[in-house]
Amino acid sequence: QDELKAAVADKAISEIEPWLEKDTVLGIGTGSTANLFIDRLKPLRDQFKGAVASSEASAKRLEALGIEVFELNSVGTLPFYIDGADEVNAHLQMIKGGGAALTREKIVAACAERFICIADQSKYVSQLGHFPLPVEVIPMARSYVARQLVALGAEPVYRQGVVTDNGNQIIDCYEFMIDDPVAMEATLNAIVGVVTNGLFADRGADILLLGNPEGVERLTL
Ligand code: A5P
Repeated sequence: QDELKAAVADKAISEIEPWLEKDTVLGIGTGSTANLFIDRLKPLRDQFKGAVASSEASAKRLEALGIEVFELNSVGTLPFYIDGADEVNAHLQMIKGGGAALTREKIVAACAERFICIADQSKYVSQLGHFPLPVEVIPMARSYVARQLVALGAEPVYRQGVVTDNGNQIIDCYEFMIDDPVAMEATLNAIVGVVTNGLFADRGADILLLGNPEGVERLTL
């Protein structure tokens, strides 16, 4: 799987390199696949201006390579957001947030013209929901939100010991197969106390680079 992740990271570099300009700011995601992509940016660092990161961890990794990290509020639209996923389907809808960075990921992705999802084939599913869906909650609302999630058919589990970069908590929804990702994303976001949920369905990826032993497939809608 590590080789497949490396292959999709390489492919993502080829995808963006022709578009890099001196004032380009890239949106960068979080996780082990995104980390491989970040590492491959080092030789290109003089060809673009810098990056906005979806987590403190990715920001640190970028800075360690000499890539300048900007606040999202200080830049405009980003040409690309490059990130991994926990699950992705044929409609390029995703579950994200296994690394607890879902809210910032969704914000940075919203500011990007193109979302490039980089994933190995183990992430590709026919129905979203085998991976427990993460929901970021305001801490005082945790029990209330969990009760609402039970009413929707999920088995909510508090992710003990995890505090998000925004100071919030994560509930993971087990046994929660998702038939209509766009509708469920909206339903979950409407629960009071929910900050974001890990369904990236209304705004999914634009390009999926999917690694399998035969090579990297490029899927678009
Ligand atoms: C981070 O919160 C997640 O959304 C990641 O994008 C996701 O967990 C993918 O991570 P890996 O590339 O490590 O599988």
